[in-house]
Amino acid sequence: MNVSCEFYRSSVGKKVVVALTGAVLFLFVVGHMLGNLKTFMGMDPSGVHHLDMYAHFLREFMAEAMGHGNFLWLTRVVLLGCLLLHVVTVAQLQARSSEARPVKYKKQTLRASSVAARTMWYGGMLVFLFIVLHLGHLTLGSLHSDFVEGEVYRNVYIAFQNPLIVIGYFIAMCVLGFHLYHGVWSFFQTLGLDTPDRNCALRLVAKVASFVIVVGFLSVPLSLSLGLLPPPVGM
Ligand code: HEM
Repeated sequence: MNVSCEFYRSSVGKKVVVALTGAVLFLFVVGHMLGNLKTFMGMDPSGVHHLDMYAHFLREFMAEAMGHGNFLWLTRVVLLGCLLLHVVTVAQLQARSSEARPVKYKKQTLRASSVAARTMWYGGMLVFLFIVLHLGHLTLGSLHSDFVEGEVYRNVYIAFQNPLIVIGYFIAMCVLGFHLYHGVWSFFQTLGLDTPDRNCALRLVAKVASFVIVVGFLSVPLSLSLGLLPPPVGM
């Protein structure tokens, strides 16, 4: 059997795959959150919102070498591959651990870390559901009340005037934050970085990183719904 297949079949190999695909998805989440902060940059002197210019830049990136929008498509394919591999491998690890322990423990002690680990699966599924709805909402526009392709600031402005949508995003970002906290922490453990003297510092890094990401994401819907940012031109 091929060495990489053999590695993937081992539990250690699966944990490494979960950690590495998780790291790629984490980098996407950080990049997306930072990109979303362009919402606060207002209009360019040419009259186009910085957020719309950024979306246009992503579509045109490497257009000369690869063709219009193709770099973005390549990124989407890589991300989707990572997402699927992440979910499938976690499911395989879960199945393996319940096979290894067919009789459940009679009495389970609820330690904070085990609560986090057990809710990871459900949290991850909720994040996955959020991504599907979110693509329909702000990328394809099929779940948006008044979507205009390419007018990203206008689309988010209209979306977040609806308090129910703001609440939905708020809940999703809290679930994401919890998932990221435990994910970053597990990443350190899988790579063997967690030693007793580093434990506190690594936990703090995981907490701060997930908190900053959640606050960064939530700053957009909250500012738009509280009227802290102006309506798009023509509204
Ligand atoms: C308040 C939080 C968020 C806001 C305001 C937001 C906003 C947006 C907007 C406006 C787009 C469309 C961009 C465009 O058309 O160029 C988009 C796309 C996307 N978002 Fe988010 N997003 C948020 C959170 C998230 C989170 C947490 C994830 C993943 C865990 C995520 C994943 C994606 C993906 C995969 C796309 C599609 C990118 C593409 O293929 O072009 N978003 N988001």
